[in-house]
Amino acid sequence: MNKTSKLITVFIIFLAICGNIQAQNKGFESRIDSVLKLMTLEEKVGQMNQYNGFWEVTGPAPKDGNAKMKYEHLKKGLVGSMLNVKGTAEVRKLQELVMKETRLKIPLIFGFDVIHGYKTISPIPLAESASWDLEAIEKSARIAAIEAAAVGINWTFAPMVDISRDARWGRVMEGAGEDTYLGSKIGIARVKGFQGNDLSSNNTIAACAKHFAAYGFIEAGRDYNTVDIGTYTLHNVVFPPFKAIIESGVRTVMNSFNVLNGVPATANKFLQREILKDKWKFDGFIISDWSSGAEMINHGFAANLKEVAETSANGGSDMDMESLAYVSHLKEAVENGKVDIKLVDDAVKRILRVKFELGLFDDPYKYCDEKREKELIRHPDHIAGVLDMAKKSIVLLKNDKQLLPLKKTQDKIAIIGALAEDKDHPLGSWVIGADKGTAVSVLEGFKKYNNNFKFAKGANSTFEQDEKGFAEAVALAKKSEIVVMVLGEGADQSGEARSRTTLDLPGSQQKLLEAVYAVNKNIVLVLMNGRPLAITWADKNIPCILESWHLGTESGNAIAQVLFGDYNPSGKLTMTFPRNVGQVPIYYNYFNTGRGDYQPHRYWSHYIDESNAPLYPFGYGLSYTQFEYSNLQIDASNQSAVKVQVTVKNIGKLAGEEVTQLYIRDKFASFVRPVKELKGFKKFALAPNESKVIDFVLTEAELGFYTDKGDFIVEAGEFEVMVGTDSQKLLKGGFVRK
Ligand code: NOJ
Repeated sequence: MNKTSKLITVFIIFLAICGNIQAQNKGFESRIDSVLKLMTLEEKVGQMNQYNGFWEVTGPAPKDGNAKMKYEHLKKGLVGSMLNVKGTAEVRKLQELVMKETRLKIPLIFGFDVIHGYKTISPIPLAESASWDLEAIEKSARIAAIEAAAVGINWTFAPMVDISRDARWGRVMEGAGEDTYLGSKIGIARVKGFQGNDLSSNNTIAACAKHFAAYGFIEAGRDYNTVDIGTYTLHNVVFPPFKAIIESGVRTVMNSFNVLNGVPATANKFLQREILKDKWKFDGFIISDWSSGAEMINHGFAANLKEVAETSANGGSDMDMESLAYVSHLKEAVENGKVDIKLVDDAVKRILRVKFELGLFDDPYKYCDEKREKELIRHPDHIAGVLDMAKKSIVLLKNDKQLLPLKKTQDKIAIIGALAEDKDHPLGSWVIGADKGTAVSVLEGFKKYNNNFKFAKGANSTFEQDEKGFAEAVALAKKSEIVVMVLGEGADQSGEARSRTTLDLPGSQQKLLEAVYAVNKNIVLVLMNGRPLAITWADKNIPCILESWHLGTESGNAIAQVLFGDYNPSGKLTMTFPRNVGQVPIYYNYFNTGRGDYQPHRYWSHYIDESNAPLYPFGYGLSYTQFEYSNLQIDASNQSAVKVQVTVKNIGKLAGEEVTQLYIRDKFASFVRPVKELKGFKKFALAPNESKVIDFVLTEAELGFYTDKGDFIVEAGEFEVMVGTDSQKLLKGGFVRK
């Protein structure tokens, strides 16, 4: 591309970004200013204050939820937002209170953790990401938004776009895995699903990019722990998904609990002012995480709530979730000259802007329609949508002996494991809106295909050692032809504040698996979990392994469809599965060490008791059919749009879907580059014997990277291009960039 056309392209992209943001903002600025002019300082500070409701708690809070004080503050206009208020009637009650009692009648915005559904529950986000199906993911977020909007919610605290490489961290269930490129695409799809094209419609809600920033890099995977990360990784791995979804129009951002470069994210000017608001021109608002402001006292950063208010406001945090710092001290901080009123005005304008965009000023009750609530909650289309998402999220990890798919006429089946009959755990971790016991269990799903089974619990999925049920399970396995074992983690063993030091099957489940294996080797292991598990023994011994995560409301139906071959599994892992927790953090796009791969001497980078290799690599997943890759073609004649083509053929007997993945390596650069990086993927269906030419284009956006200062550069030199079915089985080629 010559200089002029480059400039034109940049200008067009700039216009598109501005157009997107401005389309949302159209016409509101003068209305925002006129409201701001009417506001007292106290009322401005009130807008910057968010309280938790009085029923659900998703963070440390006093038992009574400080209800009396909160009602008083609501009446005085000292609250801009509530979170965790459940149901249309309750939302209406609080909105009415504010509309009747406060001087300016500025509507509240109601936030809620609608992470993977409200009542109709989708798979956990990590599971959804394994589908690599952006359309389905967008649809799943759309369903969540429709249901949430129907119960009065107008703002979700999702998507979480934290990249993480550490499966010990329980919150990996809430993200899209370890890869920045895929994570950005999925983030955009989820924002589109939540926000739609028109934020003012009564079935769209504002989304929230969280947690800014680097929360996924907490030390040792222990939740809320400190982060120590270099700026090069920050710019190349952590920031891009945030930047991508800000460009796609996400209206709010949540900061994070962690400290970054010695400064807690809530007071971090570099993150919130320099990067988000100045460099990326984000014009929505930033909410703190739950009491992340007040927690700066424990960090040893602020001496008291007064300093919390000053440093958070100066640092760029616009709304305070449950710290009580702004409502108690921000007015005084402005009056004492510790915080410039211009910063407060800017924060309030951002909050009002989103309220205007949602249409709350035009009709504060637009989300409060009980008729809509009745009509839309658990709508059959939503059930069908989450079922579709659930089956696409399942990953087939192993299918030796071709035990799968099971025959619908198969006799003498044993189903073993507490999770098989469970109707809560399959819902997953973030289900504050869901009703208990509403997941279809594996047993229920299975029955629809085949009733020739007997069930034995064997062992609980808790961390307790409990072998009481072993004898019954082993006896059943002995007289069965095939054993389906449903093992893994309960919903409460992943998620927030659910970090683990091992990645084994919890409690006695590993022992149970081995005991059953001793009497019957025909085992299909169905895993239910919220994070990668180190199932090395199972991989070595168990012929079939199906990763089913926590799939939500339709879990059992989705699993049964895959087990019996009504749906051919197409999911691929988005987080590396380690052999051993000691390998963590483990990820596919690492930098080579100076000692490279295997060396015939002892002085290379390795473990002496385990291989470096993952158990299952990023991008991995099998199908009931097989795909063959051939004829990789690379055409670099246009250096700004390098064409890559590969032929994929279905050489098995069944129709199936494949995800073709494209990786590159910038071989020698002024900054060390990863051994491979995902830069494209396509999901498509192939009938038996059918083949397709799959093509990709690599532009400067894919070929470049950020320096440690955050400048985007594209360098000349040799590039390796790799295309295939996962991050390890790849056809290789390359080109030279001049
Ligand atoms: C704390 C979590 O970190 C955040 O993601 C969530 O949105 C808030 N609590 C509100 O529940």
